Amino acid sequence: MKLDLNSTVTLNNGIKMPLLGMGVWKSANKTASQSVRWALKHGYKLIDTAKQYGNERGVGEGLTKGLSENGLKREDIFLTTKIFNGDEGYESTLDAFDNQLKNLQTDYVDLLLIHWPVSGKYNETWKALEKIYNEGKAKAIGVSNFNVERLTDLLSEATITPAVNQMEFHPLEQETDIKNFCDQNDIQLEAWSPLGGGEVLNNPQITNLAEKYNKSTAQIILRWDMQRKIIAIPKSTHEKYIQQNTDIYDFELSNEDVQLINNLDLEKRSLWYGNFAWNGNPDGIKDTIDEWDD
Ligand code: A2P
Repeated sequence: MKLDLNSTVTLNNGIKMPLLGMGVWKSANKTASQSVRWALKHGYKLIDTAKQYGNERGVGEGLTKGLSENGLKREDIFLTTKIFNGDEGYESTLDAFDNQLKNLQTDYVDLLLIHWPVSGKYNETWKALEKIYNEGKAKAIGVSNFNVERLTDLLSEATITPAVNQMEFHPLEQETDIKNFCDQNDIQLEAWSPLGGGEVLNNPQITNLAEKYNKSTAQIILRWDMQRKIIAIPKSTHEKYIQQNTDIYDFELSNEDVQLINNLDLEKRSLWYGNFAWNGNPDGIKDTIDEWDD
C-alpha cells in the first residue's frame, strides 16, 4: 500500500482530506501556536482544533506564521475546528463561528464539526452547519463523538450527510459498531487521541511490534490507522514527537499484524457516547484562554 504524508481520503462530498494531521487538545495558545509551526515545518497538511480547547487564537497565529515560514498557501493546509457545546443552537452557532474564523485568521475552514451531541440542540446546530457549508465558509461539515443512536437521529433530519465522525479511537478503544455504521453511511471515521492520550504506548503487544519493525510504538499505531484508512490527529507539544509521528511511510504492517492490533480492542464503551450530557463546564477552556499573554 503506497502511502505518504500527502495521502488523502475523499470525503462523501468529493473533498480530499489528509489521512494524518496534528491535534492540539490541552495545549494553551502559545504552545499550540508553536506546535502548529513545527507541524507545518515537518510537512503536516491537517491541523485540528476546537473552540473548546481555548486555543484557536494560538492556532490562527501558528498557521499564519507557519504558512509564511514554509512558503505555503492557506489552501495547502486542511484546517478543522468545532462548534463549542455552549454555542449549540442555530443562531448561536452562526454567531460563534464568525468569531472562530477571526481567531483562526482565516475566512473559511476545511472541516467544521459539532463537537458533542448536546441533547435537544444538535439537530438545530446541524442546520446552521448546513448554512455555513452552503455559503462556502466550511468546505465540509461533520460531527464528533456521535454514537449510532445520535447519528441515526441526525440523519433522519439532515439535508447533508455528515462527511466525518471524529471520535476517540485507538487500539484499546475501537468502537466497532460506530465504525461499521459510518462505513455503511459513507461517513469517514477520524480518530482523536489515536495514541490513547499516550497510554497505549506501553502496551506489550504493540511494544513487540515496535521491536519487530524497528519503529516506536506511536509509529506502529499511526501506521495501523493509515493502513485502515482512518484519519489520525496525534497531539504533541514536542518537535521530536511531531516529526517522529510523520516518519511512518518507510514500512508496512503485514495483514497479520494489522489484525493483531484489531484484536486488542477491549470493547469497552466510553460513557461519553451513550450518556453525554452537557453540564456547562468545558474542561480547561478558561485556563487556556487565561494563559494567552502576548
Ligand atoms: P506531548 O504532548 O508531551 O508531546 P493522543 O494524541 O493520543 O491524545 O496522545 C497525546 C499524548 O501522546 C501526549 O501526551 C504526547 O506528548 C504523547 N505523544 C505524542 N506523540 C508521541 C510519540 N511519538 N512518542 C511518545 N509520546 C508521544
